Amino acid sequence: MSIDKISNTNRERWNALANANVEWSQPRLDYSIEEARQQIGRHGILQDVAGKRVLCLASGGGQDSVDFGLLGAEVTVFDLSDIQLERDRQAAAHHGLKVATYQGDMRDLSVFPANSFDIVWQVYSLNFVPAVEPVFRQVARVLRPGGIYFMQFANPFIQAVDDEAWDGNAYPLKYPYIDGEDLTCYFPDWDVPQPDGAQITLSSPHEFRHTLGTVLNTMLSSGFILLGLWEWMQHDPAPQPGTWPHFTQVAPPWFDSFWRLEKSDEM
Ligand SMILES: C[S@@+](CC[C@H](N)C(=O)[O-])C[C@H]1O[C@@H](n2cnc3c(N)ncnc32)[C@H](O)[C@@H]1O
Repeated sequence: MSIDKISNTNRERWNALANANVEWSQPRLDYSIEEARQQIGRHGILQDVAGKRVLCLASGGGQDSVDFGLLGAEVTVFDLSDIQLERDRQAAAHHGLKVATYQGDMRDLSVFPANSFDIVWQVYSLNFVPAVEPVFRQVARVLRPGGIYFMQFANPFIQAVDDEAWDGNAYPLKYPYIDGEDLTCYFPDWDVPQPDGAQITLSSPHEFRHTLGTVLNTMLSSGFILLGLWEWMQHDPAPQPGTWPHFTQVAPPWFDSFWRLEKSDEM
């Protein structure tokens, strides 16, 4: 699939967000091997990644590439945003790491031969494309048989719930649960905090709901076996209602999942 209108718009919007130094575009410069080990191994699935061929898929920004690079992996980053990839190159130069960067849409990984990677690592990004099947099909092609796929995705039940809409009793859940729906209409802008306390307001990238059945069933039919699934929440022992930590404990916004690819060598 070639780059379409959604890709073009999201490329521009992610470039703007990265230029404004949104949280997901801040490279890990002051960062230790111990922190990298904790980050990559936190689910107890990945341990020694030294020498492994890792694809950080739609995971630019100079964060995940640093983790794997510091742990001795052979790192490739593929991302839609030129500026996000620039952050990976900047972080690699800072740490003296070798990181390959490719610009493109996650639905088309034809730049890589089949079986190119031992691990595909995809932090939150799947929901920026309208359908999951093309992504999973591409990952199944570029991953070697028995390879591991880490995939973080939005909890579809609460994706259209406003974390700032605490009404003293609840975060209202009011929109229908529709597979493939573009949710950008509910959240048209993102506020990006700046070091001086100001906020920059930018247009949101297109973001889609993928129902749990769609994600899990499409992974299974693409040849993946589920190794584990975790809710992502912010740890805070006494969060104030109406704050982000409280929201994440009422309604975990993301799932972390690990999968193993079952396929024959010929694919
Ligand atoms: C939330 S950021 C994740 C990266 C980040 N390092 C983090 O902290 O989690 C989402 C990333 O997905 C990328 N992205 C969005 N749509 C994409 C697409 N269709 N193909 C490839 N990358 C895409 C964006 O450019 C952005 O870098």
